[in-house]
Amino acid sequence: MTKHLLLGQTLHFTGNPLTTAWKDCAHHDSAGGVLIDGERIVVVGSAATLKDENPDAKITDYGSALITAGFVDAHMHYPQTGIIASWGKQLIDWLNTYTFPEEARFSDRAYADQIAAQTLDLALAHGTTTLTSFCTIHPESVDAFFSAAATRNMAVVAGKTCMDRNAPDNLRDTAQSAYEDSKALLQKWHGKGRATYAITPRFSPTSTPEQLAALGALWAEHPDTLMQTHLSEQLPEIDWVKSLYAGEQDYLATYEKFGLLGERGLYGHAIHLEQREIDRLRETGAATIHCPTSNCFIGSGLFDLMGLAKTGLNIGLATDTGGGSSFSMLRTMAAAYEIGQLRGTALHPAQLMWLATEGSARTLHMQGKIGHLGPGAMADITVLDLGSTPAIAQRTNRADSIWDALFPTIMMGDDRAIKDVWVAGQKH
Ligand code: GUN
Ligand code: ZN
Repeated sequence: MTKHLLLGQTLHFTGNPLTTAWKDCAHHDSAGGVLIDGERIVVVGSAATLKDENPDAKITDYGSALITAGFVDAHMHYPQTGIIASWGKQLIDWLNTYTFPEEARFSDRAYADQIAAQTLDLALAHGTTTLTSFCTIHPESVDAFFSAAATRNMAVVAGKTCMDRNAPDNLRDTAQSAYEDSKALLQKWHGKGRATYAITPRFSPTSTPEQLAALGALWAEHPDTLMQTHLSEQLPEIDWVKSLYAGEQDYLATYEKFGLLGERGLYGHAIHLEQREIDRLRETGAATIHCPTSNCFIGSGLFDLMGLAKTGLNIGLATDTGGGSSFSMLRTMAAAYEIGQLRGTALHPAQLMWLATEGSARTLHMQGKIGHLGPGAMADITVLDLGSTPAIAQRTNRADSIWDALFPTIMMGDDRAIKDVWVAGQKH
């Protein structure tokens, strides 16, 4: 198998900088190297030593560019690629006006194939090597996504979105068909190559209690799958949940009651949480996923990242496209920084980079396997040009540390900052 040695600046983590001092767990080497053997990373070390010890390795010298783990997007909707940046609506109107009509088109396998390929290529162009996606109610949309990811050898998480009420006729399944279709799809895809299945009730308003119960039963039968949904994104949505599920004490209880709260559960947005919900999410080891561009774009609110991280809650970072307004995890980190500022905390670049790689991977229970620049991890790697535009370069030229050099790319960077992407040891 070919050995590759990538040279450049390197950044890797040995701990969580949200809960321990970033200086203790973020490691930068200005003359570093990453040795890849086949699909995996073997060593991250100094360029000089790795060159001496591996004369047979094929060298790619990235100069002063920064070699990091590939970005991991922990929540997005590939079927919404075509409607990203649609104007003027808040959540429920946005779903009805833009999202549902577009998602109805995914009964057509050819269209689903086209958008799946386009979305994965856009992700790679933006340095994102793993996507966690909702599909549509159509099983074909799931096949399209997993097939397109397999072609690219990408690690992805996805599932059939289930809805049996409060959605148009052509976008509704039933409790029984959601169970059967999801079961068939997870048997077909879960663990095949780099695919992971996530049982996917869209959110409580579009599922009857019977459907949530059926999907909770399916998760209990297949506890090694993930489960993804939405939680407490907008205040009118929460009021709606409370009226649909009268008698439940809060939004999370509508999932918990039906077996849809657990360690392998991913809860997108989770902005307006009550104390009991925070406690239950933490106690069960479930993950909340921060979607900062979406939370601004759809007008949802300011996620309390630092407050929740301090309680020990698991948190990932995500674009939430097409409610999110960018395919870029750099832009997503920038929005997380801005929301942090509005809540009184300036997130350090090490914390932002950790969230976009290690943190998201941990929510997917793939820590050490993806989103990680270290021995044994899959060689899913992104190389960042820290001077990708004149505006960024003039600022980076004044930097006196890696963090000062990286922060302008986090705040102002986009796909132009992505110098190269490696997926499972292959340059894309
Ligand atoms: N809540 C339920 N469905 C969706 C969706 O597609 N996007 C967002 N942002 N929130 C949702
Ligand atoms: Zn979403």
